[in-house]
Amino acid sequence: MAFIDLARQRYSERYFGDKPVEKEKLDLILEAGRIAPTACNYQPQRVYVIESAEAMKKAVSTGASMCGCPVAVLICYDREEVAKIRRDRCYEEYNCGEQDAAIVAASMMFEAEDLGVHSLWIRGFDSQDVIDAFDLPANEVPVMMLALGYPSAKSHPAHLHAKRKAMEETVKYI
Ligand SMILES: Cc1cc2nc3c(=O)[nH]c(=O)nc-3n(C[C@H](O)[C@H](O)[C@H](O)COP(=O)(O)O)c2cc1C
Repeated sequence: MAFIDLARQRYSERYFGDKPVEKEKLDLILEAGRIAPTACNYQPQRVYVIESAEAMKKAVSTGASMCGCPVAVLICYDREEVAKIRRDRCYEEYNCGEQDAAIVAASMMFEAEDLGVHSLWIRGFDSQDVIDAFDLPANEVPVMMLALGYPSAKSHPAHLHAKRKAMEETVKYI
């Protein structure tokens, strides 16, 4: 499938079925994240696989919308390994960690879609709750979670999926 068709097909899955994600598919999804580009190639991403019932319970305890997914990844970055831009007059010290984590996550999200695995990007949580639940090291910053799994009979795109601004509203040729 052409990438543009894959991108059009993807939607946020909020009704995961019980079927587990096969190990080979999960490995490919993780590989897509591993080879994603990062600033200065520092690869500060730290990816936690949330698969055990105990880990999933912890994720749910943070209030994040796991939507019954059988597996998820928590993507963090290491603040001691991240690329920083020191000469940016808009920031005291710009840190590329969120961008690095986002491209790792996006790579995983589209690899999942290509494999027929649905996903949900999750940032609706308090970072401290995630740090506490998973006892993260002090140098790691949680950025987002990506819930993964197969659809259920109830699956459908939410109404927001169809709502995209017109090209002219978001793209300017300058
Ligand atoms: C940065 C970011 C944070 C998001 N956080 C959540 C979340 O916590 N819970 C949720 O249900 N959806 C979350 N989403 C999914 C968006 O709501 C969704 O992508 C958007 O409404 C467009 O719908 P679509 O993905 O079906 O096309 C998030 C998406 C992004 C990119």
